Amino acid sequence: MAAKPIVTASIAPEPASPLDPATLRRALGQFPTGVTIVTAAHGAQRLGMTANSFSSVSLDPPLVQWSVAKSAPSHDAFVAADAFAIHFLGEGHRDLALRFGGRNDEKFTGIPHEAGITGAPLLTELAPIFECRTWARYPGGDHTILVGEVARLVTRAHEPLLFHSGVLRGIGVALNRRAPVAGAGFVPNYLAYLLARASFVVSNEFHGRLKEWDLSVPEWRVLACLSDTDGLSVGELAAMALMKQPGLTKVLDRMVGDGLVERRGTAADRRRTPIHLTAKGRATVKPVLRAARVHEEALLEQFSEEERSVIKHALDLLIGGSEQKG
Ligand SMILES: Cc1cc2nc3c(=O)[nH]c(=O)nc-3n(C[C@H](O)[C@H](O)[C@H](O)COP(=O)(O)O)c2cc1C
Repeated sequence: MAAKPIVTASIAPEPASPLDPATLRRALGQFPTGVTIVTAAHGAQRLGMTANSFSSVSLDPPLVQWSVAKSAPSHDAFVAADAFAIHFLGEGHRDLALRFGGRNDEKFTGIPHEAGITGAPLLTELAPIFECRTWARYPGGDHTILVGEVARLVTRAHEPLLFHSGVLRGIGVALNRRAPVAGAGFVPNYLAYLLARASFVVSNEFHGRLKEWDLSVPEWRVLACLSDTDGLSVGELAAMALMKQPGLTKVLDRMVGDGLVERRGTAADRRRTPIHLTAKGRATVKPVLRAARVHEEALLEQFSEEERSVIKHALDLLIGGSEQKG
């Protein structure tokens, strides 16, 4: 029997829209691209513009292309130049993309550059760079298509800058960057297990270092919480430091004895008495906070800015969601 085709969903086609330039631009903008700066020299003039129309054409001969708008002030000079250089932009180059993506006589000011083998200026802090000799020029409606033969290239791995729907952005979470810890089976895919394991990875090493400051994990938690919000009650502190009140009370008694914190006020109910850091407590926690920041930075080094905020935001959402329910 012939297998039945699987119908996953019926997608109603969008009503045909008239082909006005704005609609076309919006639709094309849905296609994500990388972002480049193209440079060229024309006589004594240095040219440079942001371009996302770059693409590869051929490996043998090695050809690439991009297209320059006829409306761009530098169009004629780019078309007349016999070479150009393509620079791929990375995640941190948003400002550069904007500087070269608008009319501006000062594009090269303060940007290290030198003439490459074709004479086109190379922005030496960027890579990859493709130095090209103009191989062909084709009419392309309101653009001119420039094809270049690659004469030399400078390579370097980088996190690319992307252009999508009019927005410059980083690549986000790379879906295939690391083999996920999770294999098949329930446990390695279970959220609670992943969180516990992540928490172990993140805290374990640092907790091992607390001896250097003569602190236990509960004492570190108390000092860190109070350095953010001084004057918490035992109940508030227990919630923030993720501890049970009876255990915390014993820790606090010890810390009061050591002169790290003090109970101020005379509330009849000891649970309401605000707890404050002493000068000694503040001095003790300062270097530990600094080391914790350095440790966090080292852990997050492998992630892009965007991945970092995705990780923290997702955890925040998860915590916020369950606290609202609870
Ligand atoms: C992300 C981005 C991509 C762009 N891509 C192109 C492109 O492929 N071709 C083009 O002609 N202009 C493109 N532009 C616009 C030019 O960079 C802009 O018109 C620039 O001012 C041209 O340089 P000029 O003013 O020195 O001629 C792009 C701009 C941005 C911000």
